[in-house]
Amino acid sequence: MRHYFIDRERADDEFFSFHDSIQGMELVIHSASDIFSKSMIDAGTRTLIDTVVENEKIAPSMRVLDLACGYGIIGICMSKIFGCETMMCDINSTAVDLAKINASENDCSKISAVVSDGLDNIDGTFDYIISNPPIKVGKEVLYKILDATISHLNPSGKLYLVIRKDHGMQSVREHLASIFGNCSIVRRNKGYYILSCTKE
Ligand SMILES: C[S@@+](CC[C@H](N)C(=O)[O-])C[C@H]1O[C@@H](n2cnc3c(N)ncnc32)[C@H](O)[C@@H]1O
Repeated sequence: MRHYFIDRERADDEFFSFHDSIQGMELVIHSASDIFSKSMIDAGTRTLIDTVVENEKIAPSMRVLDLACGYGIIGICMSKIFGCETMMCDINSTAVDLAKINASENDCSKISAVVSDGLDNIDGTFDYIISNPPIKVGKEVLYKILDATISHLNPSGKLYLVIRKDHGMQSVREHLASIFGNCSIVRRNKGYYILSCTKE
């Protein structure tokens, strides 16, 4: 499957779709061979989405950012479950194209996606920033991305992250606590930790 607005010199068989269910919803996800968790929703991402849905009441008037969105599963779930205004962003333009297609084909509204290195192309502020962030980029880039989140949150806005304990969870937690003045472990599940910081 090759979508008309994925403007790439790439073979057709690099693009495919799969079905998965989350939060009682059956979704079709368009994906590609070089996209994170290309053929199933990642277990850490799933724990993150479940935790946000259980812990938060996000009003339709609120704004949510899915930071480093991949094919857009976090943003799509937030949009469908809460009906909130949702933005998705990723440095990978193929991921952003897929996120747009997936949002449209899964009947999301008030949702958009942009290419952005971290939050560099993101305007405005959000009530929630939710992310399964890139770890492989290294600490310097990761911290640059995370450091920018606080200025893109509204007062009382929250950052939610998933990170594995063995991918530096403790040092990321300490770093975020030094920026936000708080960082809680909201859930642990099979090595995945859900961290949450509130802009005070
Ligand atoms: C762990 S994946 C998560 C993808 C998706 N949110 C999910 O849970 O399936 C991290 C994502 O970060 C993106 N990424 C890497 N470096 C980035 C950067 N500097 N700015 C924004 N996104 C970046 C990658 O393209 C990748 O899609």
